[in-house]
Amino acid sequence: MRLGSLRPALHSRFWRHVQTASTAPRGRFAALGSEELRHLKQLLGPSNVLTPEEVEREDLLRYNQDWMGKWEGRSSAILKPATTQEVSAILKYANEKNLAVVPQGGNTGLVGGSVPVHDELVLSLLRMNQVEALDTLSGIVTVEAGCVLEQLDQYLAKHGFMVPLDLGAKGTCTIGGNAATNAGGLRYLRYGSLRGNVLGVEAVLADGQVVDSLYALRKDNTGYGLPQLFIGSEGTLGVITKLTILCPARPKAVNIAFFACSSFEHVQRTFSLARQKLGEVLSAVEFCDRSAIDFVLKREAGTGVRDPLEETYPFYVLIETSGSDGEHDSEKLHRFLEAAMSDGDAAVQDGVVAADETQARALWRLREGVSDAMTTAGYVYKYDVSLPLPRMYELVEETRQKLQEAGVEATAKAAGYGHLGDANLHLNVTSLTGRDDKVLELLEPWVFEWVSKANGSISAEHGIGQCKPHFLHLSKSESAVALMRTLKATMDPKGILNPYKVLA
Ligand code: FAD
Ligand code: MLT
Ligand code: ZN
Repeated sequence: MRLGSLRPALHSRFWRHVQTASTAPRGRFAALGSEELRHLKQLLGPSNVLTPEEVEREDLLRYNQDWMGKWEGRSSAILKPATTQEVSAILKYANEKNLAVVPQGGNTGLVGGSVPVHDELVLSLLRMNQVEALDTLSGIVTVEAGCVLEQLDQYLAKHGFMVPLDLGAKGTCTIGGNAATNAGGLRYLRYGSLRGNVLGVEAVLADGQVVDSLYALRKDNTGYGLPQLFIGSEGTLGVITKLTILCPARPKAVNIAFFACSSFEHVQRTFSLARQKLGEVLSAVEFCDRSAIDFVLKREAGTGVRDPLEETYPFYVLIETSGSDGEHDSEKLHRFLEAAMSDGDAAVQDGVVAADETQARALWRLREGVSDAMTTAGYVYKYDVSLPLPRMYELVEETRQKLQEAGVEATAKAAGYGHLGDANLHLNVTSLTGRDDKVLELLEPWVFEWVSKANGSISAEHGIGQCKPHFLHLSKSESAVALMRTLKATMDPKGILNPYKVLA
């Protein structure tokens, strides 16, 4: 195989100069004055409050602008607490003074939830990054919210465990941000959701109260499941400060294979065969179309990441197996390959199996690199949806047709990829000429309505943020949204926590 070295998962990014896309008017919050600033500096120490007086504009922009460069706030104070008590003191004071606050982890969120819309204070958890304890019998880890996912995983690896979550932003995103977004990612098929794996949460409420639900028990039916309130709440109900997570044993043998298919029907057959033949060792089934792969190959030119196959195909499926016995897993994989490549109308047309870790990482890069490659190429309209598997790719095809009918297909390029094993499609439309309102008008609300009619979800894993509050009703009933509002009003009566997000 001709695959070579790799670049880090998340390329560093030049901060762009954009206008905020949110149209929400500023709420009736107080503005930060010199007296409040002095108080916050006293609480945290002056070096842990970043303001335009002390740091370059570029440094402030890192916290004010999202990773894609689509949304930009104008916060003039970035608060960097080191302890739960400091988070508590900040929120108590902000609540008293009616100052709005945006909790922020690694700022890799894709729906604009992690950046201010107006001048909210940014509460960065990045200094709270310690692993506090690991029970090596149960695999339960206790960790501070600002710990970077990859660093936590590396720590666990030393003890034979792993985080039951992996995603392309692992080198930058934080475990608290992952829980706050209920991130899905690449291990979901095997290990399930963070809702199942996070056992306990310590969180600070809007008024500064610390809620200790930091349980480290697999089973506990003593009333309401409070940690669940914070998981997936995108920083609108409380600030997560610590978590306990049930971590699986790290697999000893991992195989990666990359297959080409001639149609989406063949992609589905490949998945079905993988489930039947690989059973308990199957750990990921991801897919990309050719358009997505072309973006990655262009972006990675010169890095050694190349198309591993001689010919081009319309679809690709990446399969990972993880187990405890390498020989047993390889045998299974080969039996699967025989079944997938045999008969007249074989499920897969061609494929490669990684021979070593470098090749394995390069194959993963073809899939993990799509987001970065498309964002680098232009302005991306991103849709992250759950759909019944047989209908998943229809949405990409109809989107292409719409772009063609409008005569914009030369500059607005659609690609489909995602977590096939979880029926989670990522539909990206990259406008090569930059932000284009004509393209946006074609896509929204059409995409969301299409998904709703197909009984899908308008957000499979990225959340709602400031991007989709107006479309929430397409995936949630009126009564469900009403209960969400009641919860928000009860837990954060002044609405200071991440305003303008999730609920419009
Ligand atoms: P941030 O972006 O900082 O914040 C995200 C949200 O959580 C915001 O609403 C913020 O207010 C809130 N928040 C952050 N920390 C806390 C806290 N401690 N307490 C309360 N609220 C908090 N997502 C997936 O689900 N699956 C993927 O496969 C995936 N792949 C990605 C690949 C790339 C290249 C990139 C750039 C992003 C990807 N994402 C993916 C999106 C993103 O990485 C996840 O949403 C991640 O969980 C965000 O973590 P973060 O620490 O960066 O949070
Ligand atoms: C992915 O699966 O690659 C992520 O969710 C990021 C994205 O969709 O851009
Ligand atoms: Zn994803």
